[in-house]
Amino acid sequence: MNIILLGPPGAGKGTQAELIEKNRKMVQLSTGAMLRAAVKAGSEIGKKADAIMKSGGLVSDDIVIGIIDERIDEPDCKDGFILDGFPRTLPQAAALDELLKKKGKSLDAVVEIKVDDGALVDRISGRYSCAKCGAGYHDTNLKPKQAGVCDKCGSTEFTRRADDNAETVKNRLMSYYRETAPLLGYYYAKGQLKSVDGMAHIDEVTRQIDQALG
Ligand code: AP5
Repeated sequence: MNIILLGPPGAGKGTQAELIEKNRKMVQLSTGAMLRAAVKAGSEIGKKADAIMKSGGLVSDDIVIGIIDERIDEPDCKDGFILDGFPRTLPQAAALDELLKKKGKSLDAVVEIKVDDGALVDRISGRYSCAKCGAGYHDTNLKPKQAGVCDKCGSTEFTRRADDNAETVKNRLMSYYRETAPLLGYYYAKGQLKSVDGMAHIDEVTRQIDQALG
């Protein structure tokens, strides 16, 4: 099964993608994480993306379409993938349709995670992750079982994203409403859109997504 998780920054796309990956034989494809890795590695793509990501804008369609085009050819995607953060514009959605067709793959569902804008800033400013394995946490909503120790790998090193600050969050939200929200209509018209209540507890959101995917 191949799916898209859609929603504003902080809606819980990454959190739910990690859980779906654990519960089903599917791989999480986060363009945000891939771009952050490119920035860290100092690659050509990373150099182009760095300032745009720090400002809260969107990296060019060509770059992210190229990344996804290559990534879904990798063997771990053959049993299904979860697109987290892609597509984000109408041209990206059209390109995804084309490249899936070309590769003989299909899109099974698009799940919208609906969250009130007011909750997003709190979620983003409280977010941090394990510096070693990348497991995601939150200051109040999702703490490690043992304070200061990653549940997944036992590391005691944690990190916060460079774009997780109040000013950048506003720009990321504006980018979402301007460029990404039109995708809701695009997938609704194709009969592929399902919505879940992203204001519910993380476990309840997972249950609703499971129900939506069948
Ligand atoms: P990206 O990394 O995709 O960031 P984003 O879309 O802004 O999404 P986030 O990762 O901030 O939020 P999320 O929905 O995954 O929430 P999370 O699960 O972490 O993109 C970063 C940048 O890269 C973009 O700004 C852009 O510049 C660039 N980029 C990426 N893809 C691109 C593309 N396709 N085209 C162009 N540019 C692109 O949850 C947030 C917090 O809330 C966590 O702490 C979590 O624990 C907590 N939480 C989650 N669910 C709940 C819940 N139900 N209740 C309470 N707390 C919750």
